[in-house]
Amino acid sequence: MINCENLKKSYNGEEVLRKVSLEIRDGEFVSVMGKSGSGKSTLISIMGAHLAPDSGRVLHDGVDIFSLGEREIAKMRCTSLGFVFQNFRLIPTLNVKDNLLLPSVLAKSADKAREEYIEMLAERLEISAMLGKLPTELSGGQCQRAAIVRALSIKPKTLILDEPTGALDTAMERRVMELLTEINRECGATVIQVTHSEAVAAYGSRIIRIRDGEIVE
Ligand SMILES: Nc1ncnc2c1ncn2[C@@H]1O[C@H](COP(=O)(O)OP(=O)(O)OP(=O)(O)O)[C@@H](O)[C@H]1O
Ligand SMILES: [Mg+2]
Repeated sequence: MINCENLKKSYNGEEVLRKVSLEIRDGEFVSVMGKSGSGKSTLISIMGAHLAPDSGRVLHDGVDIFSLGEREIAKMRCTSLGFVFQNFRLIPTLNVKDNLLLPSVLAKSADKAREEYIEMLAERLEISAMLGKLPTELSGGQCQRAAIVRALSIKPKTLILDEPTGALDTAMERRVMELLTEINRECGATVIQVTHSEAVAAYGSRIIRIRDGEIVE
């Protein structure tokens, strides 16, 4: 369960999030929608502990994530919280396979089974041929799929994705959404995705709309 309580965030005196409160139950598949600049990435970055709010709290299963130490947050990221950034954030000096394995290596959970799981995910999103390449040798869509596989690789309890199909064609968008649906239904992962597409949002079971830093429904 994720609870956001009265989140506020400003940049240079301009309020980007205004007292946002919301609750996401375990196993939900939620889509966050809203115009460009409305605060979607800011909100999910705070929910994923990548950005601190000016005030308010985020609780994961009752634990205030901003009360955790850096080590605990780092551990959470490689064991239970998968995050796909809008700009992917692959490590440029590691090849794709090592990028995909990194969270497992850090969590000391990289074994044969984990490698096979990652290879299966890479196969499903058609990036198997890219595993030996550096991120700079990949297209935007391939980087996006690698970032999705990296987030899924740890079998996360919670998956947060910022426009996960923004760089993909329609066929690949469908594959990604089918994979996310499967992970949500079969593994029980909570999925929170930002999207501009009503079709992509429809894969989820609830839409949270945000306008000028406020939830509107
Ligand atoms: N690091 C930052 N410094 C200053 N302003 C920022 C920063 N990050 C975001 N903003 C501003 O906060 C507002 C909300 O940004 P955010 O990235 O959350 O929007 P978004 O809804 O994700 O938009 P998009 O759909 O284009 O990704 C925007 O006006 C943006 O310019
Ligand atoms: Mg954004």
